[in-house]
Amino acid sequence: MQILLSQDELSEGITRLARLLRRDFDGRPVTVVGVLTGSIVLVADLIRRLDGPVRVGMVWASSYRGTATSPGRLELRLDLLPDLEGQRVIVVDDIFDTGRTLEALVGELSRRGAAEVRSMVLLRKLGRAEVAIEPDYVGFDIPDRFVVGYGLDFDGAWRHLPYLAALDENDIAEARSTVAADTDSCHGGAPQAAHAKP
Ligand code: IMP
Ligand code: MG
Repeated sequence: MQILLSQDELSEGITRLARLLRRDFDGRPVTVVGVLTGSIVLVADLIRRLDGPVRVGMVWASSYRGTATSPGRLELRLDLLPDLEGQRVIVVDDIFDTGRTLEALVGELSRRGAAEVRSMVLLRKLGRAEVAIEPDYVGFDIPDRFVVGYGLDFDGAWRHLPYLAALDENDIAEARSTVAADTDSCHGGAPQAAHAKP
């Protein structure tokens, strides 16, 4: 694992993003919509740096990665959202990879009557975009590596790291074999490891 962004660097990045929002929204009401689960740390840090009237909502999105590092079918759940009619919305996700998640969410939130929908990501992976939209606010551009920490996971693991790290081939192979071993031991009736899926 290689640390790409330290806690201090992440903190400076969030301060920069919050400053841009304060400049652009200038005390007007805004609804921050975080994308579960990867954005939880970012949303918590971001909203505490905002002033003026701020509401917070959450949606859930998943592209079924499991132990793969490339996306599958996108699934969205919007039932946790507050009423967005006439609201200025910022949808906040951890990372812009192919961009399909953000593109779908901006469309869905606009259809729910929001007056304006902007998008923010902590990270944008270079050279991966498959959509025409770009996020309105980007914390950091990063190389095309699979990253974990600060909310981002690999098959449920490593979300809690306070820094951002890139996995190398060995980390990925090791994590995949742990998952396979856990699955075998579950079949044998042994207790599940702490990081095994429920
Ligand atoms: P997109 O729809 O391809 O832009 O993918 C966005 C989603 O994929 C993010 O919300 C993340 O949940 C996940 N994702 C993409 N790249 C990474 C990564 O490097 N580490 C962890 N999750 C990732
Ligand atoms: Mg996500």
